[in-house]
Amino acid sequence: MRVKNKSEPNDKMVLLIRLFSDIISEKDDLRSWLYMKRSEINAALREMEAMCRKEHCYLPPFCSFTPNQWENIGCEYDEVRDCMLGWDITDYGLGDFNKVGMSLITIRNGNRSMPDKYPKVYAEKLLYLKEGQYSPNHFHWNKTEDIINRGGGNVLIRVFNSLPDESIDHEKDVTVHMDGRTFTVPAGTQLKLTPGESIHIQQFLYHDFEVEPGTGAVLLGEVSQCNDDNTDNRFEPPVGRFPAIVEDEPPYRLLCNEYPKAS
Ligand SMILES: [Fe+2]
Repeated sequence: MRVKNKSEPNDKMVLLIRLFSDIISEKDDLRSWLYMKRSEINAALREMEAMCRKEHCYLPPFCSFTPNQWENIGCEYDEVRDCMLGWDITDYGLGDFNKVGMSLITIRNGNRSMPDKYPKVYAEKLLYLKEGQYSPNHFHWNKTEDIINRGGGNVLIRVFNSLPDESIDHEKDVTVHMDGRTFTVPAGTQLKLTPGESIHIQQFLYHDFEVEPGTGAVLLGEVSQCNDDNTDNRFEPPVGRFPAIVEDEPPYRLLCNEYPKAS
């Protein structure tokens, strides 16, 4: 683990996101062009598949089902539908995926609203971040997570505590837990994870992600509690979580919120 000097190179990005969010929050006509093209999503899916192959990370069968196959898949795969397993490509609703975005696969999860049917208390994801891509600052009310660098470049994760009103605490030092080591860093420090290293993210701890320039795209693992991405992300500044999509070509894979009901 290495600690980068306290600095805020992403302040411009955060300010841009805040400005963008403020502008569009009351203007539905502006929201309408903040979309991802299906062709962008397809390219992102193929790129993450290639990265998984490169890092010898093998995916479960449901990750390679085609949209046509999903039309005929029955209720034996309801767990994939109900727990939103599978592909999750997001531009956080900002329409600029290469600058603000992330590709994810939920490999396993429970369902907090159906605990009797899906009692699994843990979740596992893969995350893929390209050079130049930023995954925005957020915390989780319920979920604790470990983020693990599974291969590729180095990831930089900036951490802040939150205040009782849930805003960012720019002053108080942050206690960090990384691979069995506990230590303290100034608020806003970017922690660097090289392949194999991991960080524990507690509830209410703000964190964002970017790739260390020049090191290449990174494949991350996430091990966490059962997770609901519809309700357990507090972004600061506010952004969306799932993209609006324009269909400019057929889908290569369905995303985790697009599966048809069992026939
Ligand atoms: Fe997170």
